[in-house]
Amino acid sequence: MTDQFLTSKPYKGTRDFYPDEMRMRAWVFSTMRRVAEDFGYEEMSGPIVERFDLYAAKSGEELVNEQIYHFEDKSGRRLAIRPEMTPTVARMVAARLEQLTLPLRWYSIANFMRYERPQKGRLREHWQLNVDVLGESTVRADAEIIGVVAALMRSFGADGSMFRIKISDRRLFNDVLRNLLDVGDNEIQTISKAVDKRAKISREDYEAWLAESGIAKEKIALLDDVFESSLSDIAGRLSSASQGAESLETLFSLLDQAGVSDVCQFDFAIVRGFDYYTGMVFEVEDASPDNRRSLFGGGRYDNLVGLFRKSEVSGVGFGFGDVTFQDFLTAHGLIPSDLGGRPTALIVTFDGVAYAEYLKLAEELRSGGIANAVYFDQGAKLKKQMQFAERKGFALAVLLGEDELASGKIVVKQMASRRQLTLDRADCVEQITKMLEDT
Ligand code: HAM
Repeated sequence: MTDQFLTSKPYKGTRDFYPDEMRMRAWVFSTMRRVAEDFGYEEMSGPIVERFDLYAAKSGEELVNEQIYHFEDKSGRRLAIRPEMTPTVARMVAARLEQLTLPLRWYSIANFMRYERPQKGRLREHWQLNVDVLGESTVRADAEIIGVVAALMRSFGADGSMFRIKISDRRLFNDVLRNLLDVGDNEIQTISKAVDKRAKISREDYEAWLAESGIAKEKIALLDDVFESSLSDIAGRLSSASQGAESLETLFSLLDQAGVSDVCQFDFAIVRGFDYYTGMVFEVEDASPDNRRSLFGGGRYDNLVGLFRKSEVSGVGFGFGDVTFQDFLTAHGLIPSDLGGRPTALIVTFDGVAYAEYLKLAEELRSGGIANAVYFDQGAKLKKQMQFAERKGFALAVLLGEDELASGKIVVKQMASRRQLTLDRADCVEQITKMLEDT
């Protein structure tokens, strides 16, 4: 018989958020929101469906060919469920460029779909905090973005022993490949994809990938050598100055001034998968060797707004994913035992009192800022109602029986301590508020 029922499981790679999971999500999002706003960023949002072309141009082969959920609407328009926020941000900037006052500091918290094989750290639906500066091409914006990342990590209780921000620059990558390895633009593209996946695939697969693309063994060895080198070392080996290297030098000195250089390091192997990155690129890594996957990342993109109109608006920012980050918080024991968001008071109901009295009390408490729910069944035994309050995690049970009603009192029971107090109805809101503050 059971095969007549629909499955109650969510679609593969998506999650249901029951209230416990939602409490966790609300805590993560509100912390993200607070940090972004502390740095002067304004919240924005966009549609969940965009035209497919928005991604086809610059988001990178893997995302476009393999991961996008796309479909045609009834009029034959080719659409995509958004797999990321950055093209939407660029489109929205392009649409109102005349009205907007640059530079913009924008953030959003939104969900995205990517058709991926669900595994640790990777799902089909995930949420991202996106933080971007638009219309500021100096390295100061790059430094600010890295500063926001460091502040975010710290605001969740992460210290410098738990994570690293690894930074490089696409221009430096291109200069090194052209100058030291003598490779052409097409090869640079292939090498950058292989390097981006290097930490996630085996050494053999990495070498085979490069060999298949015609990269000679000596060049692979030369590249290995560069991965191990410092920024000044690499810059010194180039025959001409690299704008990327110079910009990174300035960036690291700004990060020092901002007091965040202890969690930052140069890493030539950071390239990022998207084709739209043109300058600084970074990824945040868990310092624990058990979690090799990067937590999140971002970088500078100079040409994205230019997809929509003639313009020079450069952007820099990042996308901070909730899935990998939740693994990070769990691994480092950073999730507080009380995430808040539990209901405050249950109003216990008795047969001998008119239901309207409970509605009145509920309104009195609500207007005094005490969230509460009324127990529906007045016939239920006190024990049953108290068990309900316990299981649901109410902080308080408020009792109003015939005697209390007649004497203008209520009884308040603190669920955790079992402490019980009889309060005057007239000033019960103040008393309860104080009681909640003291616990
Ligand atoms: P991304 O690296 O593709 O960058 O995604 C950012 C973060 O979102 C990842 O590092 C990861 O935490 C999370 N993420 C991505 N795909 C998945 C997935 N399938 N499952 C779980 N988490 C995932 C971007 O999307 C850029 N648009 C970020 C950006 C903003 N660059 C500049 N501004």
